[in-house]
Amino acid sequence: MMLELLTAIRFEKVMGSGRTQPCLLVCENEAGEEVEVVTKMRSHPQIMPGGLLAEAVASLLALDLDLPVQTPYRIAIEKAFAATVPDAALRTVIQKSEGLNFGCAKWAPGYTIWPRDKTPSRDMKQGLMEVFAFDGLIQNPDRRQTNPNCAFLGNNLLIFDHESAFSHFLSIRPVAPWDAGGLAFLKDHIFCQALRGGNLALDRFQGALEAIDEPRLDAYIAAVPAEWNGQTTTGQKIKTYLTGCIANFQRIRLQLETLL
Ligand SMILES: Nc1ncnc2c1ncn2[C@@H]1O[C@H](COP(=O)(O)OP(=O)(O)OP(=O)(O)O)[C@@H](O)[C@H]1O
Ligand SMILES: [Mg+2]
Repeated sequence: MMLELLTAIRFEKVMGSGRTQPCLLVCENEAGEEVEVVTKMRSHPQIMPGGLLAEAVASLLALDLDLPVQTPYRIAIEKAFAATVPDAALRTVIQKSEGLNFGCAKWAPGYTIWPRDKTPSRDMKQGLMEVFAFDGLIQNPDRRQTNPNCAFLGNNLLIFDHESAFSHFLSIRPVAPWDAGGLAFLKDHIFCQALRGGNLALDRFQGALEAIDEPRLDAYIAAVPAEWNGQTTTGQKIKTYLTGCIANFQRIRLQLETLL
């Protein structure tokens, strides 16, 4: 099922120093099994309008493209649970977030945040290239030296934090990623330097992307709670945008090549 529903049952802690204060929660699925999930609260003042929609659609798309994301969920927050959160300010935010929120499974112990100066092994480069292309596709400027938003363990990579995806909807004159300059923001991408001069191997990625049809995009949008839509970032707009990207991916590839 896309975006399985879990119910929060125990508050553990706030994760690190993240701007949006994602919370580690123990949740329960319909079979009564416990899952540890990092949850972003719908009503946190730092969550941008449409941010949870962007998180969810980016994760669903990443799964279809075989990119390394943690399983995404809808997290139900109930009144009684919200009342158990120890910190008063956070409790208020969580009480206001009663209903559905975005979460993803906590990663396995041993993963660490990607250090800005890390030299990737040769085996990792293909994966990095695909993440670079993915961030271009979803217009995600938020995987940079100052904010890597990825983690690794050995040769395994994990990507997270897609709240800023589809950010071009907010710009006054958005440039399509297949037009000149449309991917210029990728110059600050955390992997840009490491990928420079290398070979672009995007055949697998392109094949997976072109297998995503309109009903599949509709299914992503249907899976996302309507209240996660923002004023300018909506499911319908994302669908129209991604349809264009799939049809024009060959041209997007050319733009990616000019950057590397
Ligand atoms: N699935 C996960 N498992 C374990 N830890 C996670 C997971 N997702 C996020 N984290 C931790 O929580 C931190 C914040 O997550 P995230 O980047 O999604 O939130 P944010 O509020 O947007 O943060 P920032 O503003 O720093 O980008 C991450 O840097 C990471 O340490
Ligand atoms: Mg982050």
